[in-house]
Amino acid sequence: MKQTLVVVASSMIFLAVQAKTTQDGVYTEAQATRGEAVYSKACASCHGPSLDGDGQAPPLAGKEFEDEWKGAPLSDLFERIRVTMPGDAPGALKPAEVADVMAYLFSRATFPAGPSELSSDVAALKAITFMAPAR
Ligand code: HEC
Repeated sequence: MKQTLVVVASSMIFLAVQAKTTQDGVYTEAQATRGEAVYSKACASCHGPSLDGDGQAPPLAGKEFEDEWKGAPLSDLFERIRVTMPGDAPGALKPAEVADVMAYLFSRATFPAGPSELSSDVAALKAITFMAPAR
């Protein structure tokens, strides 16, 4: 019985450590600034300079974008961008550039910045959940 309690307690601590979201300051402002340069160069032509989409390319900001990714681990968004984008040159971005461009999207979504950069490590990104405040 006592052992069961210890197991339950330690798995609760594990969950608490894992339960990080985009509301917890998961990127830095400097990283978002780098990501803005990547965005202008590689994304804006299709997704628009204001991230509001353009014909075929969906918006990368606002409610539609947030509803699409809400609850998903950041590894999903990272892989989606890394493997399929930019639409005219899929896979052209380095993993660090993908993380930087995500930091820029988060800054535009007004998710809070924090003390450490968003990692480009898929396992680390898996532990962070996309969460937007209700709009
Ligand atoms: C040549 C045009 C083009 C460029 C450049 C481009 N995209 Fe896209 N993107 C698209 C199109 C079209 C779609 C929707 C169809 C699809 O999934 O391929 C899309 C879809 C996406 C999605 C999925 C959106 C959602 O809500 O499901 C993300 C995220 C994304 N793009 C990010 C980026 C990023 C970041 C860049 C820059 C590194 C970029 N794209 C550059 C055309 C483009």
